[in-house]
Amino acid sequence: MSRQKLIAGNWKMNGSLAANQALITGILEGLQQQAPTCAVAVCPPSIYCAQVASLLSGQSAVALGVQDVSEHASGAYTGNIAAHMLQDFGVRYAIVGHSERRQYQGETSTSVAAKAQAALAAGITPIVCVGETLADREAGQTLAVVGAQLAAVLDRLGEQATNIVLAYEPVWAIGTGQTAAPAQAQEVHAALRTQLQAAHPQAAAVRILYGGSMNAGNAQELLAQADIDGGLIGGAALKPADFLSIIAAA
Ligand code: PGA
Repeated sequence: MSRQKLIAGNWKMNGSLAANQALITGILEGLQQQAPTCAVAVCPPSIYCAQVASLLSGQSAVALGVQDVSEHASGAYTGNIAAHMLQDFGVRYAIVGHSERRQYQGETSTSVAAKAQAALAAGITPIVCVGETLADREAGQTLAVVGAQLAAVLDRLGEQATNIVLAYEPVWAIGTGQTAAPAQAQEVHAALRTQLQAAHPQAAAVRILYGGSMNAGNAQELLAQADIDGGLIGGAALKPADFLSIIAAA
């Protein structure tokens, strides 16, 4: 099964009108030279969706994503943003269940599954993040932890689960410069793939991204693994040259 790779930039809480413009301009200029064969997305903070949508308009090389979406459709949910609102701005991807949101915003696998479902209902592809902490890994619980995180999503989505993107992001590798070794990541990706396909035979088409200190230097080796179908990139997505090198590696 050949899956087109996806390189998605998670800008986290970084950016400004001026910085976003420079970053998008740099990425689009670089891509004109490069003619990438992979899919590319950028996920700025939602308040900049309109700006980034406008900077991306008229081209199809880079898609717009966001970092979160409400599980609710509308109503009294102060501060939340509904999937249909994101759809108004041409948003194609929504990261859900990033470990920073699980940790700081108390998101549970149940709410993450509901967010994925809300995104899909609006035609937005959820990028569902799973990952173990260092303590989980040291206790030999990696596959149990990520398996339970994925199971919550599979249970809720049913057949729709074949339309998600999954991202394996070991928490100990995020923003630390400590990347999972390619074989270490591949082992988890293969387990996630087996779980997906046990639930849905058509899930062979689901992309599983790796995230956690992926950079220009290590991307090629990670992306060469059989079950690594792209990257969710934090720090290295904020510099056009670094992001472009990762796209080139894909
Ligand atoms: P990082 O972040 O590339 O800066 O480690 C990845 C992520 O959190 O998605």
